[in-house]
Amino acid sequence: MSTINIRRAEERDLEAIGLINGSVFLGDRDQFDGAQRWATCWFNAFPLYQYFVVEEDDVVVGYAGWQLHGGFHRAEPVIELDQIGILPAHQGKGLAPRLIQECMQALLTWTKESNDRIESHLTFVVWAYALNFNAVNVYAKYFTDGVSGLRTQFGARAENMLRIRIPIVRPIRIE
Ligand SMILES: CC(C)(COP(=O)(O)OP(=O)(O)OC[C@H]1O[C@@H](n2cnc3c(N)ncnc32)[C@H](O)[C@@H]1OP(=O)(O)O)[C@@H](O)C(=O)NCCC(=O)NCCS
Repeated sequence: MSTINIRRAEERDLEAIGLINGSVFLGDRDQFDGAQRWATCWFNAFPLYQYFVVEEDDVVVGYAGWQLHGGFHRAEPVIELDQIGILPAHQGKGLAPRLIQECMQALLTWTKESNDRIESHLTFVVWAYALNFNAVNVYAKYFTDGVSGLRTQFGARAENMLRIRIPIVRPIRIE
């Protein structure tokens, strides 16, 4: 039985993130230096962009990158799951669902602690290629408001946006 651990990414994880990125995404496919450089740029943008990794028996086998939209003190914060990738040999074991769930929990806590202007909800969104059924199957479990948008931003491939709005109850502010 393997041990699964999910945590925020650290600088030492960038090589593994580059390896995974270059293995499963087209942008830097097989260009692991380029993939690592790209991930390093996003890593350095913290907290605008936040990485998490999943380890199986102490080896990083997957990651997720989340991007905050529109400012750090929005009354209705929006956080996008920008990328999630699991090494091919580790796909199909339910790692992505666990990673998404734990990331959402951590980002919810982080947002509550760092934004005192939230009025009612934190919204998570994700854009998925409509025909990436493996990804859409996973997203549908957690972005349960369902499909809320459609675009063809990259080439001609259609993408659907899935969303979930999580209520945040805050004490009333009396000024
Ligand atoms: C999409 C992805 C993140 C899912 O991660 P995962 O940890 O494999 O997720 P799961 O184990 O829950 O599997 C999800 C579904 O894909 C199927 N699946 C996963 N790997 C598979 C494989 N290698 N071959 C066939 N089916 C596979 C599973 O059977 C499951 O289908 P089900 O919901 O009908 O049971 C992962 O497959 C991946 O990294 N893909 C490449 C990168 C990508 O497309 N990322 C998403 C866009 S940003």
